[in-house]
Parts: sequence; C-alpha cells; structure tokens
Amino acid sequence: MTAAATSHPRVLVIHGPNLNLLGSREPHIYGRQTLEDINASLTALGLRLEVSVDAFQSNHEGAIVDRIQQAAGAYAGIIINAAAYTHTSVAIRDALAALSIPVIEVHLSNIHQREPFRHASLMAAVVTGQILGLGAAGYRLALRALAEMIPAPVAVA
Ligand code: DQA
Repeated sequence: MTAAATSHPRVLVIHGPNLNLLGSREPHIYGRQTLEDINASLTALGLRLEVSVDAFQSNHEGAIVDRIQQAAGAYAGIIINAAAYTHTSVAIRDALAALSIPVIEVHLSNIHQREPFRHASLMAAVVTGQILGLGAAGYRLALRALAEMIPAPVAVA
C-alpha cells in the first residue's frame, strides 16, 4: 500500500511599493514590525492552518501584474496590500479581476481615516473582502479567512 500524501494549498501574499521599508517607515502609521516579521508570522500561522505561504514584494506595478497573472492555477488564494497602487492602478485591479480564486485586500492603516486620495480603492470592487486598520494582525486575519474559504487539500497517492 502506498502512503497517501497531501499537498497543502498555497497562498500568495503580495506587498506593494514602499512596504519593504516597514519597521522604519512612518512607524506611527504602519507600526514597528518589518516586512520580514510579517512574512515570518504568516509562514508560522500557515503551518498551523496547513496552508503554504509565499510572499512577494515589489515597488513596480508591472512586476505585481506579472506575479498576479502567474498565480492563476498555482495558488488557492491571494492576500494583497497594493499600497499606493491601491488608489491608482487599473492594471493591478484588472489582473485581480481576471482571477477566479479568493483575494483579500489588506491595509495596515485605516485608509478612510487618512487623506482623501487614500479613501478610494480601485481593488475594492473585485476583491473578496477587505481588512483595514488592524496593523500587521490584518494579514494574519486575512490568512485565517482564506484558510476557511479554501477547499480541503486532495490526498494524492
Ligand atoms: C497602505 C495605505 C496606502 O495608502 C499607502 O500608500 C501604503 C500602505 C496601508 O497598508 O495602510 O503604502 O496600503
């Protein structure tokens, strides 16, 4: 008899421009945790939830579009903080709209309490849900939500 193996569903976390500076960037708004801290906490939570987590950060709009396109068929869900591109990028919005997997939009800060140009998210209408204003915990809540939405892994021989 062959032992059955299960492959855990994969979740992609996409971090947009300037989020590589977390920890030192406007800590009164974005907190003291670095991007490495956040990614490590998601990997650790993923182990408990039986979900594999890959993280990607880019300051470049086209690179983010490319990564979203490559996610089709490879990932069971996406968490995205498109950062400043949230408010400007039709290209990222369209790439997300082309997917058929759940997508959770996360923002560390509550964008509705900030400058008017941050109030609108071009992503909002095409994502499954949004988590705002809860700091780094928002990413972990997004991972928990995705883990509940993603179908159980299929056992393979
Ligand atoms: C942000 C909010 C955006 O307005 C800003 O440009 C960011 C971070 C957040 O996580 O609160 O870079 O997405």
